[in-house]
Amino acid sequence: METEHHTHWEERYAEKPRIWSGRANTQLTEIVPQLTGSRALDLGCGEGGDAMWLAEHGWNVVAVDVSSTALARAAEDAQARGVADRIDFQQHDLSQTLPEGPFDLVSAHFFHSTVEMDRTAILRRAAAMVAPGGTLLIVDHGQAPPWAAAEVHHHHFPSAQEVVAGLALDDTQWETVRLGTAERDAVGPDGQQGHLVDNVIQLRRR
Ligand SMILES: C[S@@+](CC[C@H](N)C(=O)[O-])C[C@H]1O[C@@H](n2cnc3c(N)ncnc32)[C@H](O)[C@@H]1O
Repeated sequence: METEHHTHWEERYAEKPRIWSGRANTQLTEIVPQLTGSRALDLGCGEGGDAMWLAEHGWNVVAVDVSSTALARAAEDAQARGVADRIDFQQHDLSQTLPEGPFDLVSAHFFHSTVEMDRTAILRRAAAMVAPGGTLLIVDHGQAPPWAAAEVHHHHFPSAQEVVAGLALDDTQWETVRLGTAERDAVGPDGQQGHLVDNVIQLRRR
């Protein structure tokens, strides 16, 4: 795959043997146990922490990322954790292609990139793949992590309300379950303690 997104993220993942912790994201582990369904899509799965957690909790997962390095690490860890048979890792540049739906859960955690992309269009296409009764779960950074580079602190992080407004979903088809911020303590890449604000968007397709 030779796209700008692929090149950027391959460089990013090449910086270290592992970028992320391997643990699932907090909001996912708190919200998903309240859901029913069997088929999940993880958009921008990175090194697979969420996909593996979902598989360990009974879901069949399609986990998508643009980075072949991230996907290879995720597949290796899924094998080691005994969940490889429940996860279909697929490489897509989501600005170009998406996997086939439908899904009972479409999850996008921190699907952010410094490479320009029409994230709203991708999320709208992903929302269209949510089955009736299914969930669209988007968790974004609400503000820069304390350990982020200086330029990130000047970035405008759209609120959960702004993100949903941008999606322009049909209100007759979607019910808002949760829309707002959630705060948590976290450990940064170099072991720093920090306080993070996430934006949480949980929508249910009627
Ligand atoms: C900030 S990371 C989040 C990773 C993971 N969801 C997590 O919470 O740890 C964003 C991920 O999105 C992926 N990504 C960025 N742009 C993409 C695109 N156009 N198509 C597919 N994946 C993309 C990156 O490779 C990266 O793994």
